[in-house]
Amino acid sequence: LYSYWMKMILYRIVFQLMQTVPLFDTAQPGCRLPALKTKGYIRDGDIIIGGIFPVHFSEALPESSFTKLPESIHCGELQYRYYRWLHGMVFAIEEINQNRKLLPNITLGFRIYDSCFLVQRATEGTIWLVTGHEEPIPNYRCQKQSPLAAILGDGPSHTSIPIARLLGIYSYPQISYASSAVSLSDKNEFPSFFRNIPSDDFQAMGLARLVMYFGWTWVGLLAEDTDYGQGIQIVKEEIVKAGGCIAFSEKFPAVFSKKVVNYIIQLIKRSSANAIVVFTNEPTFLPYMGEISKQNISGKVWISSEAWTISFVLSQKEYLEILSGTIGIMNRKGVIPGFQEYLYSVYPSKFPTDIFIKEFWEKAFDCKWLEGNSDLTASNDTTTKSKLCTGEEKLNELNNAFFDGSNLQYTYNVYTAVYTVAHALHDMYTCNPGWGPFVNRTCADILDFEPWQLLYYVKNVHFTNSDGMEVFFDKNGNPLPVYDILNWHISSKNTLEIVKVGSLDFSAPKGQDLIINESAIMWNGGHTQIPRSVCSESCLPGYRKAVHPGQPICCFDCVPCSIGEISNETDATECLKCPDDHWSNEKQDKCIPKTIEFLSFEEPMGAALLAITISCASITAIVLCIFVKYRDTPIVKANNRELSYLLLLAIMLSFLCSLIFIGEPRTETCMLRQSAFGIIFALCVSCVLAKTIMVVIAFNATKPNSKLKKWVGPKLSRCIVLAGTLIQFIICIVWLTSSPPFPEQNMKSQTGMIIIQCNEASTIAFWFVLGYMGILAIVSFIVAFLARNLPDSFNDAKFITFSMLVFVTVWLVFIPAYLSTRGKYMVAVEIFAILASSAGLLACIFFPKCYIILLRPEENTKEHLIGKNKIDHRKKLLLLSSGEKHEEMMSETFYTLSMEE
Ligand code: TRP
Repeated sequence: LYSYWMKMILYRIVFQLMQTVPLFDTAQPGCRLPALKTKGYIRDGDIIIGGIFPVHFSEALPESSFTKLPESIHCGELQYRYYRWLHGMVFAIEEINQNRKLLPNITLGFRIYDSCFLVQRATEGTIWLVTGHEEPIPNYRCQKQSPLAAILGDGPSHTSIPIARLLGIYSYPQISYASSAVSLSDKNEFPSFFRNIPSDDFQAMGLARLVMYFGWTWVGLLAEDTDYGQGIQIVKEEIVKAGGCIAFSEKFPAVFSKKVVNYIIQLIKRSSANAIVVFTNEPTFLPYMGEISKQNISGKVWISSEAWTISFVLSQKEYLEILSGTIGIMNRKGVIPGFQEYLYSVYPSKFPTDIFIKEFWEKAFDCKWLEGNSDLTASNDTTTKSKLCTGEEKLNELNNAFFDGSNLQYTYNVYTAVYTVAHALHDMYTCNPGWGPFVNRTCADILDFEPWQLLYYVKNVHFTNSDGMEVFFDKNGNPLPVYDILNWHISSKNTLEIVKVGSLDFSAPKGQDLIINESAIMWNGGHTQIPRSVCSESCLPGYRKAVHPGQPICCFDCVPCSIGEISNETDATECLKCPDDHWSNEKQDKCIPKTIEFLSFEEPMGAALLAITISCASITAIVLCIFVKYRDTPIVKANNRELSYLLLLAIMLSFLCSLIFIGEPRTETCMLRQSAFGIIFALCVSCVLAKTIMVVIAFNATKPNSKLKKWVGPKLSRCIVLAGTLIQFIICIVWLTSSPPFPEQNMKSQTGMIIIQCNEASTIAFWFVLGYMGILAIVSFIVAFLARNLPDSFNDAKFITFSMLVFVTVWLVFIPAYLSTRGKYMVAVEIFAILASSAGLLACIFFPKCYIILLRPEENTKEHLIGKNKIDHRKKLLLLSSGEKHEEMMSETFYTLSMEE
């Protein structure tokens, strides 16, 4: 209780003191902070709206040694464009004051402060506004003044933030017309901050979209090192997300530094990235622009963030060449009816309290006022100006950025911001007592309200602007994100001109949000073709990208796809394998069906083999005819005529059986091929074997009392032939029934081809057939070899030996050749072996006989056969040299025996 009373007493004393002592006017020197006098542009009214504008550029502070009172903060040159913003506010307030419907009977006044892009000045101005006094003291406001409703400003985010922190303490509504930094959306940190410029997340996304739209995948990023520059982080993320790569990403300090400028210029020069996104405020980037044009860095596309898309440098001729072609994002422009006329009426006589107007006048008309300079800036070149300003100079003759009433983005925002405050005040003004929004349904007093009471109304404001735009704030205090895309052209008058080339509306449905009129764009150097900015040129179809490990994905080599693989699009990351029955074409961008291969009748090799086969078969037929015709001549009769016919027939068949090997393999032909070949050849060799055995038996039967005599005759030979063939036949039947050969498509063994071939199904069976044939051949070879020196001018042993030699050789050569070839050549080798071995048989066994039959008919006699035999015998026969008589007789017997009858 005691402490409560103590507190109450203390409060009373303080309260009384505040009521009675005019604190500011009589403040003792010791109570006062030695703040500098702050001056703004003031117009009185019932309610005051504060405004903070960066009317001047900043200027680097001279370093203070603190040996005397530090100099006041310097501002740079007055900027026409920003001065126009200020007049947007003045214009709106005048308009509202004349408006009978909006806030009738209430006059709005204003207090405007120039922040010069400087945080110090922005805070100072805020305190000035809040205090309402020339000597700003925090946390105090004189009651006698009209209430401060809200503060508009500032432009740059980095100055708006300290303002927002201060105003947040007192809950003064703050509406910024240009500060777009993402961080300002945070309602916890900045509870009383609003803006009518969209937040930068949208702008950043838009910049990334723009970059990707033009196919720039190798991008440089520059940003100022302030809250505003943080937006570049989102640009970066979005570009990377969309598959682009960052060539470099640098931040530069808001304060000019020669070293950093040089570093960044070198970086830009060295980099192969042609597209550079610059996320910065205008004054920060100016030194870089100067250096870029000085060093003539051309051929780059500058992508500008909204803060410098419309830039002061547009009027500077020297930047023209280098920066033309710049493309950037800008806020939607609006229309302020009557503003253009208003601008041409800004005379010093009409605005006597405007502390900037004299400086503006001096700059615009290049003259000097008599009574001294404007207080804010000390222009150094006053001495050079000879003309005196009269205040009557003609504004209509001027044409600078101040008078550009047709491109109003921020000015329009300022204008709407004033209206927003006015509407909020109006809502407060029209509050129904008993239905108010505050505790106990009370309303606020329009002439004496608390800042937080207005904050309530600002938050909930919703009205339609004079040009039909709806105005309200979302839950973060932001408006809808809608942008224009602007491009810097060189006009016919050789000046820079800003042309709208597209729009970006995040409230539009996807796909319609980014609209760009490409034909309207003029790139650096006056080109119409989109400049390229890539790390590696894209890979053509048929190639794939090979990224170097540890390097950005946009830097890669193009490697051709391997055989059988394709890539059908540019910049493929992977090659695709063609399906089994397809193959890559030469360019490797398409899969084409594989060529089908088999030995056909049409192709030269097939046709040639066919011709050989036919002619060989015909020759065999002719030989057969000759034999039939001369069947009664001794040479035919000798040594088993029947066998000779059979052999000839078999040889003919074996020639013909090579025909089954030509042509597309089918189930039947596959089954027929090897077995027909096997059986026919077994027949051939059996015949030969039978012949040889017959020779041997016949010869041995000539010996007196030989028991072999009864074996001589066709019976035995028939048996041999039958048995020899039958075994092969059985082998084949087993093969065909157990696992018959079948046709198959072989896609693997040869690149780019489908080989249609017969799969033997059982290789064992195949080699069995061949092996059996081999055994037969070798047996007959051996037998024939042993019998080769028998008295034989009419027996076949010698020829048979020879033919078997040919036969065996052919097939021995065949095996490696067969195994080492593929596809149709394999078949051709087999056919060739068939033809060669059959031809060997035909030629060795039958041609000598035909020769005698046709050309030496005189030798075709029994006598000659025996006689010739005698001579031969004398010469060569060692075995049977016991006596001529015996010999002659033996020959005679042999001859008769070997005759069929
Ligand atoms: N959007 C900028 C920021 O948040 C401010 C800005 C935009 C600006 N355009 C401007 C500031 C022109 C000065 C001049 O920082």
